[in-house]
Amino acid sequence: MMKEIDLLAKLPRGERNVEARAEAKTAEIIRISRAYGEPYFDGPRTYGYGGYRYDGRWVPVAEDMVRHFDLKPGDRVLDVGCAKGFLVKDLLKICPGLEAFGLDISEYALKHCEPEVIGRLHLGNAMSLPFPDNSFRAVISLNTVHNLERADCMTALREIERLAPGRGFVQVDSYRTPEMKARFEEWVLTAKFHDYPEGWVKLFREAGYTGDFYWTIIE
Ligand SMILES: C[S@@+](CC[C@H](N)C(=O)[O-])C[C@H]1O[C@@H](n2cnc3c(N)ncnc32)[C@H](O)[C@@H]1O
Repeated sequence: MMKEIDLLAKLPRGERNVEARAEAKTAEIIRISRAYGEPYFDGPRTYGYGGYRYDGRWVPVAEDMVRHFDLKPGDRVLDVGCAKGFLVKDLLKICPGLEAFGLDISEYALKHCEPEVIGRLHLGNAMSLPFPDNSFRAVISLNTVHNLERADCMTALREIERLAPGRGFVQVDSYRTPEMKARFEEWVLTAKFHDYPEGWVKLFREAGYTGDFYWTIIE
């Protein structure tokens, strides 16, 4: 049942200039970021990633995911909030024959996906996953469900659970102290719900989510 596990331990930490972000942030910038279009992925850092490009950093994460879920060729795996499909591409690289797919709300990201994943990425909302019950060996969702309000986040967690009961992994924004929370709030653009780990665990329980999870924390 539900356990805390850092499956992104091998992902390099991105550079963050929290002060510059806090200074630049306006309601209009937040609105534009939340549209998940070109500005968010490939515009200036003020709007989001400041250039979301494949550089192979997900390969060791994909290895850990394959090991954690004991994924084999033929197994279906879904990445909810897959963006341009970097993790999907690397899962296919690590485990040839895997049936890896992604889903994202951003048409921009899907139209600028990696060539290896063309046709594997679905346009959709985490709140309504267009797949049958229990149809995936694993469902992964990294830094995505916190972009929904709390009630909608519960709906998304229920959807992940429905597709892969007890075989999910979600990573969400969190913090461990009031100081870290204040720093996170200076940085955040898109997340609509965030909490301390205890608050998240309470939400997972309320949603009936029984998969695994971990936190993205700005140190
Ligand atoms: C912070 S990015 C994470 C991308 C990728 N998973 C990663 O970790 O690099 C958040 C992603 O969630 C997508 N997203 C936001 N709200 C969504 C929703 N309701 N349903 C599906 N995808 C959503 C965005 O388009 C974006 O690609």
